[in-house]
Amino acid sequence: MNIAVIGTGYVGLVSGTCFAELGHNVICIDNNEKKIGMLKAGEMPIYEPGLKELVEDNVNRSRLSFSTNLREAIDSCEVLFVAVNTPPLPDGSADLCYVEAVSREIAENIKDYRLVVSKSTVPVETGMWIRKTMKKYSREGVDYDVASNPEFLREGKAVYDFLNPDRVVLGVETERAKKTMLELYAPLSEKTEILVTNIESSELIKHASNSFLALKISYINAVANICEKTSADIKEVARGMGLDKRIGESFLEAGAGFGGSCFPKDLSAFIKISEKLGYDFKLLKEVKRINAAQKELIIRKTKDALWNLRGKKIGVLGLSFKPETDDMRNAPSIDIIKKIHEEGALVKAYDPQAMENAKKLLPAGVKFCDGPYETAKDSDLLIALTDWEEFKRLDMSRIKSLLVNPATLVDGRNMFDPCSIKKEGINYFGIGRCV
Ligand code: UDX
Ligand code: UDX
Repeated sequence: MNIAVIGTGYVGLVSGTCFAELGHNVICIDNNEKKIGMLKAGEMPIYEPGLKELVEDNVNRSRLSFSTNLREAIDSCEVLFVAVNTPPLPDGSADLCYVEAVSREIAENIKDYRLVVSKSTVPVETGMWIRKTMKKYSREGVDYDVASNPEFLREGKAVYDFLNPDRVVLGVETERAKKTMLELYAPLSEKTEILVTNIESSELIKHASNSFLALKISYINAVANICEKTSADIKEVARGMGLDKRIGESFLEAGAGFGGSCFPKDLSAFIKISEKLGYDFKLLKEVKRINAAQKELIIRKTKDALWNLRGKKIGVLGLSFKPETDDMRNAPSIDIIKKIHEEGALVKAYDPQAMENAKKLLPAGVKFCDGPYETAKDSDLLIALTDWEEFKRLDMSRIKSLLVNPATLVDGRNMFDPCSIKKEGINYFGIGRCV
C-alpha cells in the first residue's frame, strides 16, 4: 500500500519507517527542509535505538523515501497520516493549527479517494474538525474518509513499541476506511489486538491512557509522602501493590515525578478539552499538582540537609527526563536546578547524553562536568535525578571521599539502596524510603 506520513518527528519518522518495515511503500513528508536533508543523507534527527538501521534498510529496499513535497505525496498515496506536532498553547490546550494546515492542504489537492488518518495525539473531536476542513476545502464530488490511529510509543523504545504494540487502536467511520486500516496493520494482526472503534473513542483512548499512567505515578508519589511520615518503605509498598495483577507493578516508581514531551502536554490538553466539553477534571488537576510538588520535595530535602543554599556546591547526577534519552523536555532537573541556582547554590551537573540539550535550558552559571566523580568532587551534596544505569554502578566509597563532609545524597529516583549508602558513611535522603 502507498502511504504518506506527514511530519517526521518522534512519531512520524518511527511510524513511517515501521510501516515500510511491515512491507508498505512509505514517503515521509516534512516542511523542515533541513530535517529532510538530514534524512536523505541517512542522518537521524532524533535518537531511537534501532531506527537508523531500519531507515537505511528500508531506503535501500526502495520502500521508504523522504520529501518536502506534500502535493506529490497526496497524488501518489491513498493513505495520508497526519503526524505533525500538537504543542501546548499557553492555556494548556493543544495547538492544532498544524493539523488544520495539513488537513486543508490535503483537501485542496486531492483528486481521488484518500484516507486521512490522524496519528498525532489530538483531543477528542479533532477528527470532526478534520472532516469539516476536508469538506470546506475539497473539490465537489471528491471522496475521502477521516480516521484516527493514535500511537503509544515510549521514547527510547519507540521502534520496539511500534512493532510489538500491546494494541492497535483504529477509529473509523466507514467500512472502506476500516478495510484499508486493517489491511495496513495486517502484518501485526497475528500478535496484537486490533481494536476497531469510532473516531472519538480512539482519540479519547490516547488521552485517557497517558493520563492514567501519569495518575499512577502521582498516586505512588502521594503514597511515598505518607511513607515519609511513618516507617513504611515505598519500594515495599509498591511491590506489595504491584503483585495484585489488577494494579500491576509498572509505573509505581516514586521519585522526582514525570517529565517528557507527552505526559505533561497530554494531561493539560485532556483537562482543557474536558473543561470545554463541560467536565471539570479535578482528578487530573491533582495529578499535575502532586507531580509539581515532587520537585519542591527534593529541594526541601536539600535544604533540610544544607540549611541555606547560598554558596553551597550542589552536584546533580542526571538531567534528561528519563534514562536512555537526551530529551530534556519538561525534565524535573530543569525546575530543580533553576530554583537552587536562584537561591545562590553553585550547581555542577552531569548527564551521559543530555548535556548538550541541557546547556540551552539551564542557567548560565551551571558547571557541566565530564562525569559523576567530578560532579561529586568538593560538593556539599549530591542530587540524583535520572536513573541512568551507570549511576547505579558508582563506586560509592569514592563518591564519599570526594564529597565535603558530612557526605550527603538526595536520591530523587530511589535508585540506590539506603543501607549500603549509609554503610559508606553517606547521609541518605530518598523519596518515601525507610532508612
Ligand atoms: C508528535 C505530536 O506532536 C504529539 O502530540 C505526540 O504525542 C507525539 O508525536 P513529535 O513527533 O515529537 O510529537 O513532534 P515533533 O518532534 O515536533 O515533530 C513534528 C514534525 O512535524 C516536525 O518535524 C515538523 O517539522 C513537522 N511539521 C509540523 C510539518 O511537516 N508540517 C507542519 O505543518 C507542522
Ligand atoms: C509516555 C508513555 O509511556 C507512552 O505510551 C506515550 O506514547 C508517550 O508518553 P514517555 O514519555 O516516552 O512515554 O516515557 P515513560 O517511559 O512513560 O516515562 C515518562 C516519565 O514518567 C519519565 O519522566 C519517567 O521518569 C517517569 N516515571 C515513569 C516515573 O516517575 N515513575 C514510573 O514509575 C514510571
